[in-house]
Amino acid sequence: MPYYSQEIIDEVLSKTDIVSVVGERVHLKRQGGGYVGLCPFHNDRNPSFSVSPSKQICRCFSCLEGGDVISFVMKYENYTFPEAVKMLADRAGVSVPEVKYTPEMKREMGKREKLYEIMNEAEKYFFYQLKTEAGALGLKYFEERQLTPETIQHFGLGYALQYSNDMVKYLRKKGYDDELIREAGLGVFYEKEGMVDKFINRVMFPIQNSNGKVIGFGGRVLGDAKPKYLNSPENLIFEKRKNLFGLNNARRSKKRYMILCEGYMDVIAMHQAGFTEAVASLGTAFTPEQAMLLRRFTKDVLLAYDSDGPGVSAALKALAILNEMDDMHGRVINMRPYKDPDEFIKNLGVEEFQKRIDHAEDGFLFEVRQAHVPFETENAGARERTEFTRTLVDMLCRFEDEIERENYLTDVASIYNIDRDTLHKAVIAAASRGASERTKAALKVRSLGNEESAKRKDSIKGSVKHCEMTLLAWIAQRPELYEQIKEDISATDFTDEVYRKAAGIIFGQIANGKVVPALVIEQFEEDEEKRMVTEIFFSSPEELEQNHDVESGAERFKNLVIKVKQNGLGASSNMATDPAAELERLIAGKRLVEDLSRKKYSV
Ligand code: UTP
Ligand code: MN
Repeated sequence: MPYYSQEIIDEVLSKTDIVSVVGERVHLKRQGGGYVGLCPFHNDRNPSFSVSPSKQICRCFSCLEGGDVISFVMKYENYTFPEAVKMLADRAGVSVPEVKYTPEMKREMGKREKLYEIMNEAEKYFFYQLKTEAGALGLKYFEERQLTPETIQHFGLGYALQYSNDMVKYLRKKGYDDELIREAGLGVFYEKEGMVDKFINRVMFPIQNSNGKVIGFGGRVLGDAKPKYLNSPENLIFEKRKNLFGLNNARRSKKRYMILCEGYMDVIAMHQAGFTEAVASLGTAFTPEQAMLLRRFTKDVLLAYDSDGPGVSAALKALAILNEMDDMHGRVINMRPYKDPDEFIKNLGVEEFQKRIDHAEDGFLFEVRQAHVPFETENAGARERTEFTRTLVDMLCRFEDEIERENYLTDVASIYNIDRDTLHKAVIAAASRGASERTKAALKVRSLGNEESAKRKDSIKGSVKHCEMTLLAWIAQRPELYEQIKEDISATDFTDEVYRKAAGIIFGQIANGKVVPALVIEQFEEDEEKRMVTEIFFSSPEELEQNHDVESGAERFKNLVIKVKQNGLGASSNMATDPAAELERLIAGKRLVEDLSRKKYSV
């Protein structure tokens, strides 16, 4: 790792308890020798995320995300490696040297770090322009929209000049190359003109991730031209569906709920008015990933969408997503007669808006009311009422919880003047008929984030890799077995690169007296590698080893050793070029395996 010495990382790990770090972010319950909780990395219904105090690692059995405490913090907080180490060091009272980037370190820095850095530079640049003569236009725009200097500063708002490559020139001078400028979405390359600024003559809204790091921009035209907003393209650090505008401030709000708005300007106007619990999606519809992000901070989401037609249908879609999340609730704020929160607050003020918050309509009742709209014709009769009642029955069937369903049933029966008993009977009948289909649909949404893990599971089952993993898992968990095989097997017999490296480290640790999973994991840099290594420590060798024909554990262990050895020999023979030497090696190998099969291990 380039920034902190191994000693510092070791010290941080030894002074940090993964259970308390995870426990501060995920509600954990004791189970057996460890802890379990709902996985924060996928839409988990039953606790699949387990934390092992003895091994100091964590892992989700469903989506397979996991690692040591550093990788957990990186993933959960969106931190880079050095940031995660720094945070944990501060927490544990370990003093770490301030990292100063030399030009050489800068060149080595990972892509993500570089993108964060250039975005930060860009934010400062746009903000600075507001103070220049050429940028007065931008400042005037914000003033006309009644933003205070504090708000402008707080959100780091800015202005992109009218010249065609002023920013590109500035960034180049700061040492960033054109490729990075392009990838960050700050410059666009044209055959004729070369690199020019992406944002020209627009007021700029920096988009921050939940840790306050700038990951992209929305740029608004000053007038009525189209497109109204130009947004940064996605890249390694900017994923629109996984971030929310304003969340880095909103997460510090003391409210029990959060308010989801449609636009950047709505969030800014609301924060300025004291509603710091407001967030917005990023120029696209609200996503399940964003719902998961919100769920970290609240279960109660109030929608402050526009009161027009598109606003209502966007609200319905957002509610559908919230409904799929376990114990999340949606409510809808009535904005009429105004279009959006920005306009509302300007006209009716803060107190009036607070009242609308307090009286926000229950999400389900809002959905029912919208479903009722088509039936509100002047001469609506039995036919329309029947159709609406059928719709209602379908909607009520969504509730799996009986108490909840009964309560809503009572409410809608009274609101729409429908006989409660009739409605109740219809719901019971429909629920038994349609349950399976709805479960299927729900499962589809719930499996979100699981496709990758399914692929991962598939590719490893039954393969040589699987044998290597199982053997490692066995040895890592019963280090005393290593004594018996250390003459027969070495790290070089493992053909998978990750397992080979892990074997080397684990065998070394055993020789030194103790296996420390977190220290093994820390030797790997890529996410996928860390996951693979975490799996070694979390696997039960008994479950992994599917060779049930052989009864005794000792036999199964021996078979594994032989398989790994045999495969290792085969793999290296592929690389040999001298046929005579090759033959000799094969014969020697064969003898070795024969010797092995006569051996007796005690497990
Ligand atoms: P709005 O048109 O409601 O924008 O679009 P707004 O934030 O309220 O801005 P003002 O008040 O008109 O200045 C809502 C959101 O949709 C996205 C932006 O994220 C915007 O904040 N959007 C809108 C785009 O990405 N591109 C567009 O062209 C328009
Ligand atoms: Mn607006």
